Amino acid sequence: MLRTGGLVAFPTETVYGLGANALDARAAARIFEAKQRPSFDPLITHLADAADLEPLVGAVGPAVAALAARFWPGPLTLIVDRPDEIPPIVTSGLDSMAVRVPDHEHARRLIAAAGVPLAAPSANRFGQLSPTRAEHVVRGLGAAVDVVLDGGPSRCGIESTIVDARGDHPVVLRLGALPVEELEKVIGPVTVRPGSSGQPVAPGTLAAHYAPRTPLRLVSSAESAGAGGPGRGYLAFRDRPAGDWAAVEVLSGSGDLTEAAARLFDALHRLDAVGVAEIVAEPVPDTGLGRAVNDRLRRAAATWDPAI
Ligand code: TXA
Ligand code: MG
Repeated sequence: MLRTGGLVAFPTETVYGLGANALDARAAARIFEAKQRPSFDPLITHLADAADLEPLVGAVGPAVAALAARFWPGPLTLIVDRPDEIPPIVTSGLDSMAVRVPDHEHARRLIAAAGVPLAAPSANRFGQLSPTRAEHVVRGLGAAVDVVLDGGPSRCGIESTIVDARGDHPVVLRLGALPVEELEKVIGPVTVRPGSSGQPVAPGTLAAHYAPRTPLRLVSSAESAGAGGPGRGYLAFRDRPAGDWAAVEVLSGSGDLTEAAARLFDALHRLDAVGVAEIVAEPVPDTGLGRAVNDRLRRAAATWDPAI
């Protein structure tokens, strides 16, 4: 299917990807069409193995090489120079390319069997919740995708961290499943670039993104959430909220941020499906993976409140 230009959704450790042959411009164009994704939002190229990087893109700098050696396969996307073999549509015309090796057996075997790198964004319509289960992909994309490989729920549940480590000052373009603290152990201090909807350097960082269909409001703490009510759902970090809520999702009863990240999109998909008029969410502790979780919650809320 991939070799003939088809679209195959596949599981990764972060979220499900919508894959196409990254060497084929027409196949890549189908991804933009299926996702209703603006053409200015570049795709991530996925490789089966870290050893496949340099044959495709040539020599990379020491920081990029060190990060790939330490974290691949894994939830880290690196920015490199785009090689001529990759058609510009994949990178939305940029001279740079985002690339990663997913840490998932199905994904790596699929890429290896296809024999080509796969361009793969998250397998959801543009701006909507990312899929962490095969059912989410089927529900969101339907007939727009040719095949969905079911690998069960995604282990990390949140997208990869994106880093541009080509220069002297590495920059995190998107907070994600690899905590900033882990990157810094390998390459020293990094800057986290706040997202800007005006300059979509990494449009996963558009202010309004990752949104459920139900309006979502982010409160500063559980105490400020109010008393619930028939049409309201609540997304809690650790403790069930007081009051009478129509639906409650607790991300991690033990207060574990890894578990909270893994359950985030799944919990939002469920709250979105129960038919409440509003989802109220509380933030999680803003450290390690919690930073990426709060980032996604802020962006989901921004869709409904442009002031955020
Ligand atoms: O975990 C993930 O990264 C998942 C799985 C499927 O691998 N993929 C994913 O792809 O989240 P997507 O398309 O939803 O998000 C990719 C992000 C976009 O925000 C895009 O703008 C950014 O990567 N990106 C791609 N190429 C880039 C480049 N050359 N420079 C800066 N940002 C880039
Ligand atoms: Mg996405």
